[in-house]
Amino acid sequence: MSWPENVGICAIEVLFPSQYVDQTELEQFDGASAGKYTIGLGQAKMGFCSDREDVNSLCLTVVSRLMERHHIKPTEIGRLEVGTETIVDKSKSVKSVLMQLFADSGNTDIEGIDTTNACYGGTAALFNSVNWIESSSWDGRYALAVCADIAVYAKGAARPTGGAGAIAMLVGPNAPLVLERGLRATHMEHAYDFYKPDLSSEYPTVDGKLSIQCYLSALDTCYQLYRKKLEKRNPKAADLGLENFDAILFHTPFCKLVQKSVARLCFNDYLLTNKEKRASKYVGLERFDNSTLESTYFDRDVEKAFMTQFNNVFESKTKKSLLLANQVGNMYTPSVYSGLASLLVNVNSAELLGKRIGVFSYGSGLAASMYSIAVTQDAKAFEKFVQKLNYVLPALNSREKVAPETFSELMEVREKNNHAAPYTPTGSISALFPGTYYLKNVDELHRRTYERTPTISNGVH
Ligand code: HMG
Repeated sequence: MSWPENVGICAIEVLFPSQYVDQTELEQFDGASAGKYTIGLGQAKMGFCSDREDVNSLCLTVVSRLMERHHIKPTEIGRLEVGTETIVDKSKSVKSVLMQLFADSGNTDIEGIDTTNACYGGTAALFNSVNWIESSSWDGRYALAVCADIAVYAKGAARPTGGAGAIAMLVGPNAPLVLERGLRATHMEHAYDFYKPDLSSEYPTVDGKLSIQCYLSALDTCYQLYRKKLEKRNPKAADLGLENFDAILFHTPFCKLVQKSVARLCFNDYLLTNKEKRASKYVGLERFDNSTLESTYFDRDVEKAFMTQFNNVFESKTKKSLLLANQVGNMYTPSVYSGLASLLVNVNSAELLGKRIGVFSYGSGLAASMYSIAVTQDAKAFEKFVQKLNYVLPALNSREKVAPETFSELMEVREKNNHAAPYTPTGSISALFPGTYYLKNVDELHRRTYERTPTISNGVH
C-alpha cells in the first residue's frame, strides 16, 4: 500500500440538543445584569440535554447519522476514537458502547478507544485517527474521530457557559479537508484551572479567571510555535502572521473570549514584528512597544486597542465560525469542530476552495494545539462534502425553546439522579429530534439501555 496523501476529514456530522434556553431570559432568571450573558459573554442560546441523553446516546446518534448520511458501511471503519470529558463509567469506554453499531456487520476489528483531557479529547481523537492512517498499522479503511460532551455547571457565574453536542469526523486519504503535515504546534502543562475531581457530580471545579489566563497563554505559545514551524516550511515567506490563515477557528467556551483571542493573535504578530516595520504596519499602537505577553492577559488597554484596530480580522476570519457556539454554547470536546461546521455552512464553498484554516484547540488542565487544515482545490468534491451539511441550519432553527425555570428543573433532575441505579429517566422523548438515541433505563447493575426515536422516511435527519 502506498503512503497515503492528503489525509484529513472526509465527512463531518454535527449534533446539538433539540432544546435550548434563551440567554436573555436566563439573565433575568439568574438575576444577572441585562446584557451580561448576551453581550458580555457573547452568547444567544444554550442547548441542553434532559436526563434522556448521556454521552453514550449522543455518540450513538452522531455516529449512526454519519454512516447513514454518507452511506458508510460498518465494515469500512478500521479505527474509532472517542474524545470526551463526560465520564459515565470509570472503566467502560464510550467506544465499547458504540461497538453495538457494528455488531450486525460482524466487524469487531476496530482499533482506538477513549481519550480524556477536558475539551482537548476531540483533537486527540482526530490526531490519533490521522496518525493511524499515516502509519504502518493502516489497513486501508477509514477512521472515525468522535467527540461529545454535556457541558453543565452548578448554579452561578459559569452556568451560562454550558452547552452540549457531538461531532463525528470520517478520516481518510484524499480528503476535502487535509490536516497539513508538519504544521502542528502543541503546548501542555499542569494547571488547576478547570477540572472534575468530584466523580459523583457532572459539575467541574472552575477557577474562571485562571482558566482564561491559561487559555490565552496556551494560545500565545501554540501560535508562536506554529509560526516557527511555518517558517521552517517556508523559510523565504515574507510574512508569518495571520495573513497565512484565511479563517481561524478556536475552542469556544464563550464567543467573547474568541473575539479577544483574535485580537491576542494580532498582538502576538505585533510583538514579533521588528520595531521599524511596526511603525508603518501598526499605526497608533506605539504605546505598546514595551508590553509583554505575560503582563497583558487582563490588560484592558491592550485588549481594547487590538480588538478595535483588528476587528476586520475577526469579522473576516472568525466570526462566521461562531454560529453554533453562539446558538448552542460550549460543547466542550466538539466545540472547535462545531466552529469548522459553522464555517462550512456559513461561507459560500467557492470562497473556501484552496484556503488554509487555522485551528486552536484547548482543553483545561491543560492541553492545547494549533494546526492547520488545507481545503481541497477540487470544487466538485468540496461542494458535495459541504452539501451534506444542509440539515444543520434547519435543525438549529427547529429547536424548542424552554423557559429558564424548566431548564433549571431539568438540571436538578440530572444533578439528583447522576449515577442513580436502577433508574428510568423522565425527560421527554417526543422533544428529541428524529433518529436520536436516548437512555431507556439504567438497571440495578448500572447497565444502560438505549432506544432510538423513529427516523424520518429516507433514514437521514
Ligand atoms: P463572571 O466572572 O461572573 O463574569 O463569569 P464577568 O464579571 O467577568 O463578566 C463577563 C463579561 O461580561 C465581562 O466582560 C463583563 O464586563 C461583561 P469583559 O470585561 O471580560 O470583556 N458584563 C457585561 N456586559 C454587558 N452588559 C452587562 C454586563 N455585565 C458584565 N450588563 C466566567 C465569567 C467566564 C469566569 C464564568 O462564566 C466561568 O467561570 N465560565 C467557565 C470557565 C470558562 O468558560 N473559561 C474559559 C477558558 S477555559 C476553557 O475554555 C476550557 C473549558 O471549555 C473547559 C474544558 O476545557 O473542558 C471551560
